[in-house]
Amino acid sequence: MNANEPADDDVRAVVGRVAESRRYRAVDPAVVRRLASEELRRARGPDDAVKRVKRRLHQAVGAYRTSAAGGAIDRDIERLTAASQGDRSGGELRAVCRDLLARHASTRERLPFLDRFYTTIWDAIGGAPASLLDLGCGLAPLALPWMQLPASATYHAIDADSRAIRLVDAFLSLVGRPHVAEARDLAGEVDLPAVDVALLLKLVPILDRQDPAASVRLLRSLAVRHMVVSFPIRSLGGRGRGMETTYRRRLEALLRDLDPRVRRVTEASVPNELVVVLTLSREHPADA
Ligand SMILES: C[S@@+](CC[C@H](N)C(=O)[O-])C[C@H]1O[C@@H](n2cnc3c(N)ncnc32)[C@H](O)[C@@H]1O
Repeated sequence: MNANEPADDDVRAVVGRVAESRRYRAVDPAVVRRLASEELRRARGPDDAVKRVKRRLHQAVGAYRTSAAGGAIDRDIERLTAASQGDRSGGELRAVCRDLLARHASTRERLPFLDRFYTTIWDAIGGAPASLLDLGCGLAPLALPWMQLPASATYHAIDADSRAIRLVDAFLSLVGRPHVAEARDLAGEVDLPAVDVALLLKLVPILDRQDPAASVRLLRSLAVRHMVVSFPIRSLGGRGRGMETTYRRRLEALLRDLDPRVRRVTEASVPNELVVVLTLSREHPADA
């Protein structure tokens, strides 16, 4: 064991104390373990480590949620179920989805552009995909009614927040979408299935704060034809000038790191989100 590495018992103790918090109980344990192990190296003691881990979990997961209550998810699932029954036009279900999308800060910002957000991306890749990975999905899969995907297209949703995943899983089952929804740590090692498109919507800045090497590691591991990477560039309130310059620079650095796999870069932005579609030259990283 590295002299600087915290003892397993210390990591377990911090993870246990963080899990007592209602706010962070639903975060994938692999994320909490990773952060506990990092913060124990810097902390002045166990109490300080717990505080630091909670702060980092807030940045990674908590800041986007507007509702932390576990019971609310059951009510949300009931609302979705009720809306989907006998809803021939799909109007009621869309209304509930819209309402729930407004619960997560990042999907709320996208609501004004939902009609064209996904279809612009599909246009950039030559049509709607037959399979997709939504990485760090939050509640974004609830935008399915606006995605215009073929009924057979498979939807693989992953997020560190198991509460969001539970809601997404219930929704995708309810609408009969072939899918997988799972809580995973995308800053750790992952082995994901080959698909047409991987969406990393507003995920890179979040992973950068957890581990600066995580995004490139994740992107390099993907066996996909297209990657869609996005960054928030302006809050709806107009704050955040300079964000676009910062994130365009971040994007350029990512592209340099991914080179030479990227064959084409197509922009599919909306007013408050920088969206780029990266088309790759080969399907599997092992071929690169
Ligand atoms: C800014 S939100 C973006 C959500 C969604 N992609 C969208 O654009 O609406 C970032 C998401 O990443 C998730 N996340 C943060 N760290 C993660 C990790 N290490 N592994 C998996 N998901 C993570 C958060 O729970 C959150 O849902």
